[in-house]
Amino acid sequence: KSTQEFSQASFKFDEIEHGFGAEMHVANGHKADVLIRWGDPLRPGLPVFNPENMDADEQEVRFGYNNDYVGYLPLSADEGQQRGLLCVNHEYALPELMFADGVADRGERLQQQVAIEQAAVGNSIVEVRLNNGRWHYVHDSPYNRRINARSTSITFSGPAAGHDRLKTRYDNTGRQVIGTLMNCAGGMTPWGTYLTCEENFDSVFGGELAPDHPEQQNYQRLGIGGKASRWSQADSRFDLAHNPNEANRFGWVVEIDPQDPHSTPVKRTALGRFQHEGAETMVRADGRLVVYMGDDNGFEYIYKFVSRDVVDRNNASANKNLLDYGTLYVARLEASGALHWATLQYGTGPLTPENGFYSQADVVLEARRAADLLQATPMDRPEDIVPDERSGKVYVMLSNNIRREETDAANPRANNRFGHIVELIEDDQGGAARWEMLIRGGNPDIAAHQADFNRHTTSNGWFTCPDNGVVDPLGRLWVSTDQGLSVSRETGTNDGLWAMYTTGEKRGLSRMFFRCPDGAEVTGPMFTPDAASLFIAIQHPGEPGKEQLDPYHNPLNRWPDFNAAMPPRPAIVVVRRINGDVIA
Ligand code: FEO
Ligand code: CA
Ligand code: CA
Ligand code: CA
Repeated sequence: KSTQEFSQASFKFDEIEHGFGAEMHVANGHKADVLIRWGDPLRPGLPVFNPENMDADEQEVRFGYNNDYVGYLPLSADEGQQRGLLCVNHEYALPELMFADGVADRGERLQQQVAIEQAAVGNSIVEVRLNNGRWHYVHDSPYNRRINARSTSITFSGPAAGHDRLKTRYDNTGRQVIGTLMNCAGGMTPWGTYLTCEENFDSVFGGELAPDHPEQQNYQRLGIGGKASRWSQADSRFDLAHNPNEANRFGWVVEIDPQDPHSTPVKRTALGRFQHEGAETMVRADGRLVVYMGDDNGFEYIYKFVSRDVVDRNNASANKNLLDYGTLYVARLEASGALHWATLQYGTGPLTPENGFYSQADVVLEARRAADLLQATPMDRPEDIVPDERSGKVYVMLSNNIRREETDAANPRANNRFGHIVELIEDDQGGAARWEMLIRGGNPDIAAHQADFNRHTTSNGWFTCPDNGVVDPLGRLWVSTDQGLSVSRETGTNDGLWAMYTTGEKRGLSRMFFRCPDGAEVTGPMFTPDAASLFIAIQHPGEPGKEQLDPYHNPLNRWPDFNAAMPPRPAIVVVRRINGDVIA
C-alpha cells in the first residue's frame, strides 16, 4: 500500500453558517429528512408511540435512545429499491427527557424507569430502502432487531472468556452476559459484521467493593464504583457490593452479525477492555485486519488490534473467529514525529506476574494499566479513529482535555478545550510509522485559541471538539463535533458536520456542511457505498442544561416533531442531493 499523496476530489457545496436554531441546516442543493426516531416501532402491530405509557418490554421492540454510531450494510436490491441494514448504537438514556412524571430516585418507579433505560440503550438493526429518491425504514422487516442492556444474551470469546475474573453469582462460566451498554462509536468489518463499543460503562456501576477485593486496583484505574449509581440502586446486578465482577464484563468491543437476527453477539476480549469509543477497520496490504480504537478519557491512549490471520473476502464465515487471535498494541507518539506501537502481550516487557499480570486475560482486562507500564502517550481524549484504506492514513479525533497542564508534541495545548486531529501514517512495508498534526480546533481569528487550520478556512469552516469522523467512498474526511453547552456558547454555533481536505495545498481546509438542532450533537456520519446518501445521527436534541427546570414539559427544543405533547427525540437523518448525485 502506498502512503504517497493521492489526488482528492473537491467539495463543491456552498458552505453553511455557524449558528443556533431549533431546526437542522444542510448545504444548499441538499435535503435532510428524518428517517427513524426514538420510539418508532420495529415490529408490526404496535400502538402509536406514547412515551407516557411505555414499559420496558415495549421499549425493547422500539428504536432506542440517543443514537450514536451508524453503520450501513448494503443488501441486494429488491423490486428496484436500493436497500440495506442500518446498524445503530444507542449510547445512553436521558431520564429527564424520557419520563413525563420526572426522574424517580427511589422505589418501584425507579426500577421501572431503569428497566426502560436498560431497554433503550444498546443497538438497533433496521432495514432501510430507497424508493423514488426517498429513504424509509421497513417497520416489519424480519431483519429488524433490538439488542439491549436488559435481556439480550451475549457471549465472550478470546483470551478473557471463561476466566474467573468474569464469573459472577449469575454466571459461573464467565462466558455469558446480559447486554451491552454505553455504545458510542463502532465500525463495520469487511465481512459485513458490526462492531459496537462499550464506552462510559463505569457510569452505570455503583456501590463499594470490599476494601480488600482483588479488583480494587483494576476498578480504580477505570473510575468504577464508590458512590451509588442510578442503575445500582435499582438493579443489584450493577451494585459492586453485591456483584463485584460484573464490571469486568463491560468495556469491550462487541461483534454483531446484522444479517442473522437470531445470532448471538460476541464480546471480543482480544481487543482489550477500556472506555471504547470506536472500532473502525482497515485491511492491510498483507491481508490482515487492523482495528483502530480510542479510549475516550483525558490522558488515555490510542490502541490497535492486528489480526493473526488474513481476511477472507470471499467467505464471510471464514472470518468468524478472526477477532479472537492477534496482537493488541498501544501508541507512543514521539516528539520527532515517530509513531511506535508497543505490544500488549503477556510475558513481554513489564506484563508479568511481578506487575500482577498472570495471563493474557489479565492484560486485556486491565489494558489501561498494561499500557501505563508500556509508557504509551496520554492523549487529549481519543474518540473516533478513522482509517482510510486507500491512502493508508488514519485520522484520530481528540475532542478536548481541560485537565492538561504539561504539553507534548502530540497534545500541544494546556487546558485543551477545543481538541485536535492527529494523522497517523502507517507503513506496511517495514518502514517507519509516523504521525502529523492535521488541525487544532478553535477560532483561528482569536490568537488565544491557538487554533490551526488551512489559511483559506472561512469564518464558518473552523470547528472545535472533533468526536466522530468518516472517510467517504471518494476518500474524503468528514468530521462531526461534540462541544458541550459551554463551548458552544463561546463558539457561537451548534455542533455540526464539516468536510475536510487532508492532502495537497488544501490540507487542513474544512467547510461546514450540516448544523444540528439546539441541544444536540452530530454523531454517526456514514455514507452509502455510492456516496449519494449520508446518514447522520442526531443525539440528545434538547438536552437540558443543569439550570433547566422540568425539561420534559419545558424542553430547550422539541425537534423533530415540534409537537407540544412530545418531548424531543433522538433520530437518524438522511441527507441526499436534491438531484440525486453524489454528495459533494
Ligand atoms: Fe461517547 Fe466519546 O463520545
Ligand atoms: Ca463519541
Ligand atoms: Ca466513524
Ligand atoms: Ca459524544
